[in-house]
Amino acid sequence: MDSRSWLLLEQEDPTWRLPDDLRARDPFAARDCGWVEQMRPFIRQFSRPGETVTDPFCGFASTLLAAHLEGRAGVGYEIEALRVELARERLARHAAERQQLFAQELPEQGEPLDLCLGNLPYFGCAWSGSNAAQLYASPDYASYLQQLAVLFRRIAGRLRTGRYCILMAQNIDVGGHWLPQAWDVARVLSDYLQPCGERLLLYPKPVQALAPLDSGHDRSHEYALIFRKVPAAQDLEGALRLLRELQQLGLGFQVYGSFGRWLQDPERVEPGDVDLLLPADEANLNALLLALQQRGFALSSWREPVQPPLQLADYAGRYYFRAERTERQGRQLRIDLTWELESGQCVSLGGGSARGLPLA
Ligand SMILES: C[S@@+](CC[C@H](N)C(=O)[O-])C[C@H]1O[C@@H](n2cnc3c(N)ncnc32)[C@H](O)[C@@H]1O
Repeated sequence: MDSRSWLLLEQEDPTWRLPDDLRARDPFAARDCGWVEQMRPFIRQFSRPGETVTDPFCGFASTLLAAHLEGRAGVGYEIEALRVELARERLARHAAERQQLFAQELPEQGEPLDLCLGNLPYFGCAWSGSNAAQLYASPDYASYLQQLAVLFRRIAGRLRTGRYCILMAQNIDVGGHWLPQAWDVARVLSDYLQPCGERLLLYPKPVQALAPLDSGHDRSHEYALIFRKVPAAQDLEGALRLLRELQQLGLGFQVYGSFGRWLQDPERVEPGDVDLLLPADEANLNALLLALQQRGFALSSWREPVQPPLQLADYAGRYYFRAERTERQGRQLRIDLTWELESGQCVSLGGGSARGLPLA
């Protein structure tokens, strides 16, 4: 890869293309399958030989095949079991069986990620099936972005510090409404990782003249959105002191996610934020939010400022509140408060020194 902000992708090499017989077995004829060629430059640039490339939306395993060709291990998560089967067959034909595929969402816990790379499943695509985790089947755009936010938080929690998450995305027309999906997704992802650029992928097609005043285009370009996990600016020890103080006030919460894992094992990836799980108890939530506000935290829900006391019912399905504080010395602390249980393990702060630090 060089400094140009675009990559020209003129032809898909038939050697690596998803074979027609596999394509025909997909109910949507693999209309959303990407090109192996689009992934290879990013794998070379943003990972080292022998490292692992993880695709959270693995589809037919184009990324995993590209990783294999570049001498990297690959791990893919794909929610559709049939697609996983097709992907396995495809990889086997290239003797790339060592690449690992899972018919599930990317889990919260697992090995640290060296590079996360994939094509976004778009909102608004026709889809049949009843899997609630299927992003193509999200009933509305807000739910789609929220579902993505959950996955992005997991990715950020598992990504190694200094490493990259790169998603290929387009702004698309959905039922006659132009949705800036690439930009909205970038905004959601930037809640968890630092945006650090983009590449425009260009797929030249035969040109057609447009009628006057027609703004349509042929979708022959796509963005590769590049995000990085920057070294934690978080004041982790300050976070621990604060949590113990809140606990002493009798407020109910549990620590989970990457901060919880870091408490158990400080050798693991440093957390980017602090995740607290709360009981669905309005009085406790409001007391906690007020205590944070009094300690200089700005409170928000989906980037909208909130002011306690709140009614939990008004926020059903909104997933979390965020509390952020920047101190004069530049130290930052970000706390996400969730009140719906996820699969993640909860860690009690308990007494003693959960991570070998003096907690008092
Ligand atoms: C754009 S396609 C990926 C295509 C892939 N890059 C390829 O070239 O083979 C997006 C994939 O994400 C999958 N998907 C949707 N929601 C998902 C979720 N929650 N977790 C994992 N995969 C999901 C879809 O089933 C779809 O196969």
